[in-house]
Amino acid sequence: MSDKYQSFTASPIGKLLVKNLGLPSPMKLDRYVEGAPLVDGTVVVGGRGRLAESLPGLLDLLGIASTQAPLPTEGEGATYKGLVFDATGIASSTDLVALRDFFTPLLRRLDRCPRLVVLGTPPESVEGGERVAQRALEGFTRSLGKEIGRGGTVQLVYVADGAEAAVTSTLAFLLSPKSAYVSGQVVRIGATGTKKAAPVKDWQRPLAGKVALVTGASRGIGEQIARVLHRDGATVVGVDVPQAASELQSVMKEIEGDWLTLDITAHDAPQRIAHHLKEKHGGVDVVVHNAGITRDKKLANMKEDLWDSVIAVNLTAPERITRELLDQGVINKSGSIVGVASIAGIAGNVGQTNYAASKAGVIGFVDSLADELENGITINAVAPGFIITAMTAAVPFATREVGQRLNAMSQGGLPVDVAETIAWYASPGSTAVNGNVVRVCGQMMLGA
Ligand SMILES: NC(=O)c1ccc[n+]([C@@H]2O[C@H](COP(=O)([O-])OP(=O)(O)OC[C@H]3O[C@@H](n4cnc5c(N)ncnc54)[C@H](O)[C@@H]3O)[C@@H](O)[C@H]2O)c1
Repeated sequence: MSDKYQSFTASPIGKLLVKNLGLPSPMKLDRYVEGAPLVDGTVVVGGRGRLAESLPGLLDLLGIASTQAPLPTEGEGATYKGLVFDATGIASSTDLVALRDFFTPLLRRLDRCPRLVVLGTPPESVEGGERVAQRALEGFTRSLGKEIGRGGTVQLVYVADGAEAAVTSTLAFLLSPKSAYVSGQVVRIGATGTKKAAPVKDWQRPLAGKVALVTGASRGIGEQIARVLHRDGATVVGVDVPQAASELQSVMKEIEGDWLTLDITAHDAPQRIAHHLKEKHGGVDVVVHNAGITRDKKLANMKEDLWDSVIAVNLTAPERITRELLDQGVINKSGSIVGVASIAGIAGNVGQTNYAASKAGVIGFVDSLADELENGITINAVAPGFIITAMTAAVPFATREVGQRLNAMSQGGLPVDVAETIAWYASPGSTAVNGNVVRVCGQMMLGA
């Protein structure tokens, strides 16, 4: 499934029309290639706060070359692949000018697909002028995300006091092309649960020795999640409906994984999954609730079965399965639970009251469990925007075109973009990343 408009704009006639008619011109995004360095270039680090001193060392650990601002004038011709600004020292609205002072001169010196990260203090944890200034960072980063262009991304990471050493896995994700289609997001580290990251022995294979359950793994986004978690070292147990058994088996055989065919809404599905994981794998480290369906109709025409099936697959099944795995102690220490929500669950969508309710419910599910989990187990969700899969191929042409272009990157995302975000949550280095909902939507204009 390709983006025909994007291919057209790369052709000579397409380029001419884009230029003369002012049409959107989607840029080919950099994406991570297995075994490649995380960042193909140098990252400039600036700002003065709780993290400034440790940042160069953390980046070095990830094999990322960095240099400190202000830059020496002799390097004026050099260009940069990333910028990280420690804004935790900003304590009042007048201090905010430090953002302009750092970013403005550097914005003209960036390579294509640059990645920018601002680090802040959670506003709710401070008071007075500092709270005001830290909240202001959100407007700054979201606007810069819409301005930057050329496949660039901009994020804000709020780091709780005491969680400074837990930012490494998040920087590895946000500074690398693994986050190609993630922009304008606000991530919280150490906000709930532990403020410490579990140790990561090998940053190329952080999931080595871990077991990951992925529902809906036979195709689309679920298949990519399975492949990326396998690339990161996990043994994947794929689940899908019996009708998808042969596709599921062929994907799982390719990645040396295991499989289980069942309908996740079946009454005994949670017990069967728990039994399988305990007996064959001795537990599970990563649980990804990816299986999902749409049954679109305006509410005025919504039949009961359309409503029921969507809520059952997308929301009730993840709740029941998670509860069973937790009650039976099947999820290992520092494990990770990941929900797959949707932009529709944030912004709402015509014809999708059932789907949007189920996906907003997934966000509620994250909120409800984030404070409750113990043993370093985390829960987070992704909220994909327009991702090019069999599900979105069924969307009528005009709606699909609008869906694909209405974002800062003027294109749809790929299943791998969702998968990489989930792999970041799943890393043992992300035990302080809890209770987040990150949109994988190219910074869609809807529901910001
Ligand atoms: N494609 C997008 O643009 C997009 C956007 C936002 C959210 N999402 C979400 O991402 C997830 C994956 O979407 P996709 O586009 O890959 O969809 P898809 O239809 O291509 O794949 C979904 C998979 O889930 C499986 N499944 C469905 N019902 C099941 C059940 N009862 N038991 C077990 N397996 C079941 C299907 O057989 C299929 O393999 C879904 O939760 C979807 O809502 C997708």
